[in-house]
Amino acid sequence: MNIVVTNNFDSMSEEVAKIVSAHIKQKLSSVLGLATGSSPLGVYRLLEEYHRRGVDFSQIITFNLDEYVGLSGDHPQSYRYYMEANLFSKVNIKPKNTHVPNGIARDLQEECRSYDAAIRAVGGIDLQLLGIGTNAHIGFNEPGTAFGTTTHVVDLTQSTIRDNARFFASPSEVPTQAVSMGIKSIMQAKNIVLMANGGSKADAIFAAVRGPVTPEIPASVLQLHPSVTVVVDQAAGSRL
Ligand code: GLP
Repeated sequence: MNIVVTNNFDSMSEEVAKIVSAHIKQKLSSVLGLATGSSPLGVYRLLEEYHRRGVDFSQIITFNLDEYVGLSGDHPQSYRYYMEANLFSKVNIKPKNTHVPNGIARDLQEECRSYDAAIRAVGGIDLQLLGIGTNAHIGFNEPGTAFGTTTHVVDLTQSTIRDNARFFASPSEVPTQAVSMGIKSIMQAKNIVLMANGGSKADAIFAAVRGPVTPEIPASVLQLHPSVTVVVDQAAGSRL
């Protein structure tokens, strides 16, 4: 694991955005795995800026990690909506090349199977961005998720529902399930960048990087991956 501790959120975002744009410049048709939440917002803002300066997204293909079950893409708290608002509408990516699991698919099991198949069909993910939950979840893979899981329907834990309630009018509006790429789907990416900022992530980052490798700490599986860069600000990296 390559660990980069930066000063603050802005420098963390810059570090990650530079890694993404280097991938794009090296391979114009890169397949990017994308994350949502507050952690990557600065990265997406910078990618918009890099695009204005000439970085070309016209051949880029993206797959998002997850989506809430029951929210359609035009729901403001859906991850499809987040991606459109924060990145897809800001760069010259082709809509057909952007993939976010469909949280309102009638057959969710089939949605999971076809999502994995679509990733395979383009040759896998070149660079996967990850945030981390305070319980060390990645995507929506909660503690206890088997390392062999592919894209699946997840029951969210109370702690995740609580953490994500800040985006909703009330905790009761937070969906209780999500479709998430599995641990195995994530580990199949050729390169992974895990990012985190703020003191509330310090324990999760410590456990992910230095803890035992166990399904109880989903992000600890990254210790087994050959190409992972962990980019944190000082607060999130304070226990390293
Ligand atoms: C959600 C997402 C994760 C994300 C996590 C952390 O649970 N499914 O992909 O990493 O939140 O979010 P934040 O970056 O807002 O702390």
